Amino acid sequence: MKSALKNEPNLVFKRSVTILGIETSCDDTGCAIVNNEGHILGESLHSQQEIHLEHGGIIPPVARDLHKAAIQNVVKKALDAANMKIADVDAIATTLKPGLPLSLIIGMQYGKHLSKISKKPFIPIHHMEAHALTIRMVEQVEFPFLVLLISGGHCLLAVAQSATHFQLIGQSRDDAPGEVLDKAARRLKLRNILEFRSMSGGQAIELAASRGNPKAYEFGIPMRTYRNCDFSFSGFKNSIHRITMAEEKKYEVTGGQTIPKPVLYDVCASLQHSIAIHICHRVQRAIEYANLKQLIPPNRRNLVISGGVACNKYIKRAVGVVCREMDYSVRVPPPHLCTDNGIMIAWNGMERWRVQDGIYQHDNLDCLDIQARCPLGQDLSEDVSKSEIKCKWISLSELYADNVTETLVDAVKT
Ligand code: KG4
Ligand code: ZN
Repeated sequence: MKSALKNEPNLVFKRSVTILGIETSCDDTGCAIVNNEGHILGESLHSQQEIHLEHGGIIPPVARDLHKAAIQNVVKKALDAANMKIADVDAIATTLKPGLPLSLIIGMQYGKHLSKISKKPFIPIHHMEAHALTIRMVEQVEFPFLVLLISGGHCLLAVAQSATHFQLIGQSRDDAPGEVLDKAARRLKLRNILEFRSMSGGQAIELAASRGNPKAYEFGIPMRTYRNCDFSFSGFKNSIHRITMAEEKKYEVTGGQTIPKPVLYDVCASLQHSIAIHICHRVQRAIEYANLKQLIPPNRRNLVISGGVACNKYIKRAVGVVCREMDYSVRVPPPHLCTDNGIMIAWNGMERWRVQDGIYQHDNLDCLDIQARCPLGQDLSEDVSKSEIKCKWISLSELYADNVTETLVDAVKT
């Protein structure tokens, strides 16, 4: 483990510091204990995915009840795995924003309770900042860096100037990419095929897409002519509905049946490809903007990708092509740190501990509350628009060629 804080002078960490983190912003109840060297001492994660898949989406009161039922045990399991008691940790970090209010409340109440009974400080955490900073637990990525956060609830591009200072370059005007992938998987009834049954929508689409032709269907790339770094994914939802309906009609598909597999795989591959292109366009302009405004020094040209959709290999490869052409390195945490977890919250607590900022004493917690919505840092998006950056899109044809070759190889094998 090569955490960015590993070589911090003893001045900051006079002794080993351990932080316990709690995450309940959406549908995962997570807890972990990490130390200042980036070691995970104990972890526990309870996913509600299976239940929400059955309901066809997250029902907030159901999520709340599941968090409530799980939280005590999840925290106990993480502490047991670390062979620690709550009195042994230095502080308790908990996600307070943004997220589903009913879910956030459960984490906040439990985190505050732990802080009060143990008399340990409490550190409120912004979920997106935690996603952005996770990379520094596993790699020596120094500030400032560019970050692309793509998940089921969010999509944004920002500069992380420090653990507490972020500059927002662009964000989604409507849906998040993970949300579109989840809805597409549902519309295509992927769950009715056994091998996709227990996967998240994004995972299912990725696997199905690996067998299809990304150029089979035209989805149209949103916001091509908008000279900003904002995103829009709602059009993909309409297109997937329209395409699926037409194919269902064509193949006389009824009830729980899916459209025939080769067609299904092509639809998934084309959707994934179009989402990747849209993300790449916004990333390209963000890099050009960061260079123009000298936001990132030449020796720090890193683009960090995180959030659940950062698990997607095709999207990572696509963004990798743009970064290679623009002389940036792509840094992505391992998949289990990209999706929601308690580790990233504990680590964000550690980043705050290092700078001693945003730490609350156990008897001063009444001022802290959850926030369903909360922008990330200083908003530069208007300045991005004003900069009128015209991009000559970097070709991503190498992706497409590779994918077709892989598909052909698969076809030959089977
Ligand atoms: O970050 P995350 O765990 O929760 C949010 O904060 O939203 O992200 C969950 C999202 C889901 O929409 C899921 O479908 C998507 O991440 N996801 C993926 C993949 N694995 C998870 N999307 C694309 N490809 C994947 N392999
Ligand atoms: Zn998340």
